[in-house]
Amino acid sequence: MESALEFHTALAWLEWQVDLGADEAICDAPLNRYELPETSPTKAAKASMAMPVPVAEPEVDPVAEAKAAAKSAGSLDALRAAMESFDHCDLKKGARNTVFCDGVAGARLMVIGEAPGRDEDREGRPFVGRAGQLLDRMLGAIDLSRSESVYITNVLPWRPPQNREPKPEEIAMMKPFLARHVELAAPDVIVLMGNVSCEAVLGKRGITRLRGNWTQAWNRPVLPMFHPAYLLRQPAEKRRAWADLLELRAKLNDVH
Ligand code: URA
Repeated sequence: MESALEFHTALAWLEWQVDLGADEAICDAPLNRYELPETSPTKAAKASMAMPVPVAEPEVDPVAEAKAAAKSAGSLDALRAAMESFDHCDLKKGARNTVFCDGVAGARLMVIGEAPGRDEDREGRPFVGRAGQLLDRMLGAIDLSRSESVYITNVLPWRPPQNREPKPEEIAMMKPFLARHVELAAPDVIVLMGNVSCEAVLGKRGITRLRGNWTQAWNRPVLPMFHPAYLLRQPAEKRRAWADLLELRAKLNDVH
């Protein structure tokens, strides 16, 4: 009770002073604020007002993000959606379409190319330009087709500007999606078209040495081959590509 009275008395005194024009509370003894120690709250407060405190952006690891997104995709459709909403690869900004796949999901053969070119970017399907037409003829020569027996994708789903080589960091951040793509499509046999695919999947280049030699990736037989775009430039190499196609046909006949 007593303290409530004191409170009302103090408030009345304060209101009286405000009515008289008092607008600042000061101490009995003068205070030189320039001589206050460095750590005084006043100086700290002043400093914090003068300099904006940089807000640390949370560090994003695109490869870790890609791994998490790919892992949580339970179907090919979900994987396509996860890739379409993956925003850490700058190639996406310049692309018209996310080129995900073509052919028959669940086919025994999966072909992995490099990245979409201009025609693929426009259409949203892999291997539809001149190289793709040659690929269709190559597959047809061993009785395979994308309408019946082949599933096709690329290492990268977005066209690199001016068809430049994909950068290592672009490949690294899209590789978890490719790994999941293979897991979900579950082919018996994989063909890697050209150096970029070999680099991404096997970690090595040198297609002239690698081609035609079976190896393994993701526990599946893998055959590196010349890229059809290379064969368009070097038609003399079609002879060796034909040998690889026969090798592929024999493997498909063997593996069940
Ligand atoms: N080259 C590729 O590697 N992929 C395509 O989809 C088209 C051309």
